[in-house]
Amino acid sequence: QRKIKLYYKKSGRLLPWRIKVRKNQDPYKTLISEIMLQQTRVKAVLDYYKAFLIKFPDIKSLALAREKDILIAWAGLGYYRRAINLHRTAKIINKEYGGIIPSEKIVLRKLPGIGEYTSSAIASFAYGKEELVIDTNVERFIQRIFNIKQDTSKVYKIKELGEKLFPKKKRSDFAQAIMDFSNDYCTKLRPKCNTCIISRYCDYKS
Ligand code: ADE
Repeated sequence: QRKIKLYYKKSGRLLPWRIKVRKNQDPYKTLISEIMLQQTRVKAVLDYYKAFLIKFPDIKSLALAREKDILIAWAGLGYYRRAINLHRTAKIINKEYGGIIPSEKIVLRKLPGIGEYTSSAIASFAYGKEELVIDTNVERFIQRIFNIKQDTSKVYKIKELGEKLFPKKKRSDFAQAIMDFSNDYCTKLRPKCNTCIISRYCDYKS
């Protein structure tokens, strides 16, 4: 934990949705970025994210937009179901939650296009809830550092190990630190174990 936190302080990515307002990220920016990042890499998302926020700066503008215009802004990102669900989610939030993005995971989870991962990410990054945020990068990191094979009872095991890996507090920063660390060192293909700053705590060797 200490090494990862230090790494994040020094080398974490300054991504636009990570800018904090007081202690947390902006919920709307977190929602848009996390939906875009569901099946798409950070590098590919950045330009779309910026343009999308200019066109649709808040929940209300998104809720009141025409689906056609949202799809135009999404064109090129792929997986268009995400854009349609995002629109439906914005309308529900605008109508039923007074334009405020819910902070509870169980409430978020019911919204279109928001599953286990994205509900945790919003509750954690935007509201400071101490949820475990486990995306594919975090999962790979967990599998390697705890030296487990991709096998049975995966979800249960990963969560259990996630509890061991994550600190009790500031889990939001920690999750995003692991995402950056995985992007730099613990990559899916050809991880940089030779220069990895925590290789001595890890049995996985590329
Ligand atoms: N992938 C999904 N969410 C991310 C985030 N907040 N930062 C970096 N990569 C991500």
